[in-house]
Amino acid sequence: MEAVCPKRLLAQDLTSTPEQEPYKSKFGDWYERSTVRAAPRRMVLKDEQGLFFSPDFIPIMKHPLIQEQSETVQRHIMVQQLYRYLDFTAKLEHVVVNRVAMSIANGYLDFNLPRQMVFDAYKIYCDEAYHALFSADLLMQVEDITGIRAVTQQLQPFFIRRLHELQHQYSESNLQELMEIFFVIISETLISGFLSDIPTAKDVKPSIRAVVRDHAIDEGKHHVYFADLLRRVWPQLDKRYKKEVAKQLPNLIYAFLTPDIDSIRKELTSYDMPRDHVEQVIAETYTKEIVSSHIANSISSLTRYLRELGILDDPEVQDRFFEAGLLTSNDLVLG
Ligand SMILES: [Fe+2]
Ligand SMILES: [Fe+2]
Repeated sequence: MEAVCPKRLLAQDLTSTPEQEPYKSKFGDWYERSTVRAAPRRMVLKDEQGLFFSPDFIPIMKHPLIQEQSETVQRHIMVQQLYRYLDFTAKLEHVVVNRVAMSIANGYLDFNLPRQMVFDAYKIYCDEAYHALFSADLLMQVEDITGIRAVTQQLQPFFIRRLHELQHQYSESNLQELMEIFFVIISETLISGFLSDIPTAKDVKPSIRAVVRDHAIDEGKHHVYFADLLRRVWPQLDKRYKKEVAKQLPNLIYAFLTPDIDSIRKELTSYDMPRDHVEQVIAETYTKEIVSSHIANSISSLTRYLRELGILDDPEVQDRFFEAGLLTSNDLVLG
């Protein structure tokens, strides 16, 4: 796997780089506490009580055309949603997050970062590799127990396709790589509702809740790390890149949080539902307003970091956030 290796991202005038805060590592007890080092392999047992996924986290389950489906189809929908989540996680960690973690660890990112922070990227790299492994492991275990094969795994997840589109609108490799770095900062600092809610969802099998809980504990530390990285990187970034990156933030946020409609469509079609019913379920469940308000509600800590760095002060950037439904005039007054 190639690392992200942009060159000359720093502001020309290094004397303008503000004095950096001392780095406080969240990884001091990593050898004793991280999931990869300390948690057992989670096994799904055949006779384990509970669902494979909570219907509360599957918006299409509330649609009348899905509610009228057989119990078997509804069970398949829960299992396929679990597969979609696990496949999303495995690919996010391997194909995107770890490219950036590897670059930080190897000093390829052209920013001044504390020595301990650079070293901690090795630990994040191990964490993410293990998150990918336990996701793939769980997916295979559930396939074996249920006999239900993942129907959408061959499809490249939406977030990867969209991120590549956003990168390839630029011919300059630095901007392509900055899109990836900021996508990772965004994805690592958005507290996933799912990561925090599933461990307490009593209707879900304990083994599946345990996997998500393991992941959430590691990600709490990653969140702090990447918020810190953002605070250190932004003041150092060359002015000509700052504006472009800031304007793309809403697109990167949407790339990460937009539901994977193509995957859902492919899955629903596999149940022999009439095509117009499939389209109706999708159109009525994922309206533009529902998707944008879901996304706006998921990014409060990220917008706070962006505001603290003055990134949202630029009127052109504000316009992009307004247009995307991620900022209201009220937010600006409050900010
Ligand atoms: Fe992870
Ligand atoms: Fe992470």
